[in-house]
Amino acid sequence: MSNHQHYGNYDIHFVEGKDEIDQDGTLVINKANRSTAKFPDFLPTWNPNEKYPPLKFFKYEDPGLKADASFKSLFPQDGDYTVKKLSPKLGSVISGIQLSQLNDEAKNDLARFIAERGIVAFRDQDFTHQGPQKCVEFAEYFGPLHIHPTSGAPKNIPTIHVTYRRADEKDERVFANNTNSILWHSDCSFELQPPGYTIFSILEGPESGGDTLFANNVEAYKRLSPAFQQRLQGLHVLHTSEDQASNSRGQGGVERRKPVSYIHPLIRVHPVTKEKYIYLNKPFSRQIIELKEEESTMLLDFLYRHLELSHDLQIRANWEPNTVVMWDNRSTTHSSCNDYADDTSARHGMRISCQAERPVESLLDLNNEDISIGDIADALKKTHT
Ligand SMILES: [Fe+2]
Repeated sequence: MSNHQHYGNYDIHFVEGKDEIDQDGTLVINKANRSTAKFPDFLPTWNPNEKYPPLKFFKYEDPGLKADASFKSLFPQDGDYTVKKLSPKLGSVISGIQLSQLNDEAKNDLARFIAERGIVAFRDQDFTHQGPQKCVEFAEYFGPLHIHPTSGAPKNIPTIHVTYRRADEKDERVFANNTNSILWHSDCSFELQPPGYTIFSILEGPESGGDTLFANNVEAYKRLSPAFQQRLQGLHVLHTSEDQASNSRGQGGVERRKPVSYIHPLIRVHPVTKEKYIYLNKPFSRQIIELKEEESTMLLDFLYRHLELSHDLQIRANWEPNTVVMWDNRSTTHSSCNDYADDTSARHGMRISCQAERPVESLLDLNNEDISIGDIADALKKTHT
C-alpha cells in the first residue's frame, strides 16, 4: 500500500509527432499553436542538452523580515487601491497596485503580507505584458529562482516554469485512469530548500475553469488537539522527486537536473510569522522516517485527508485575465483543477518559484547547514515506489 500519488502533469511536456525541433536541436511548440498564442514569448522550449548541477545550500534571508508591520510602503495611506480578504484566514485580492511599480520597501512588505495571508491575487497587472525577462527580474528580489528539473521554459529563461495546454484538441488522458484531476501538493518540496514565494499567472485560458485550490497548512495545524500536535513534533518526512522524474521520462520529458531526495520536519516553523505548520504533500512525501510503514501510512493518510477535505481552511482562486497571484509555497498546499479537459481552447500559465530557507522545526536551526536528519539513502531503501 502506498499513499504517494502518481504525478501526471500533461501540460508541461513536448509532444512528439506534434511539436517541432529547431535547427539547434531545441524542442519547440509546433508552428500552428505558436502562431495563435497570445504570449508567444512565454511558450515553452525544451533543450535536451541543457543540464544543471545539483542545487547547493545557501543562507536565506526572507525579505518579509525587513517589512514594516503596518505595510506602509505596500499600502500607502493616500493610495488608491482596494484590499479584500478572500476568506478570513487565507487569501487577499488587491486592485489598484501594480507589482511592476513596487520599490524594495514595498516588496519587503509584500513578502510579509504573502506570508501572513498565504496567497495574494493582484488584478489588472501589466506584469506579464512586460515580457519574461522583466518578470524574472522582479521575482529575483524574493529569493534565488528555482530551475525546475523537468519542465520546459521560454528560450534562454530557464527559471520560468511553463504549463501549456495546446488549443485544438480535447485531452483524453486527464481522466483515462483517474476519476478526478485533483492533486494537492506544494511545489518541489523534494529540494533541500524548496520554493517559498511563488508567482503565477494564467496568460491565456478557457472562458471558465482551471481554478486553483489552496489550503492553509497553518490553520490545519492549529485545528489539531494539543496532544496530537505534540505527537507530530520531532517527526520527519522523506521527500523525493524520483516519481516525478520517472513520470516525466515516461512522457518523453527532458531531465535538466537529476532527481533528489531530502528529509524535512513534518512540522515546520515560518521565519516571518513564527507560526508552525504541517509540511507534507502526496506526490513528493513518501514516509515518516521515525515510524514503521503502516504507522506512517495511517498518519499520512489522516493528515492528507485533513488538509484536502477541510474546505473551511481552503479557498479557490479563479483566473481573470491579467491577474497575477503570489503565494507562500511553504505554508500552503494547492491543486490545479482540470475541469477544462473537454474544452478546445489553449491554457497557458507561467510560474516563477523563489527558493526559501531549508525547512526547520525550530528557528534556532534557521540557516544552519549542518543539521543532519536521518539517512536519506536508508530511508529511500525502506520505502518503495
Ligand atoms: Fe503546483
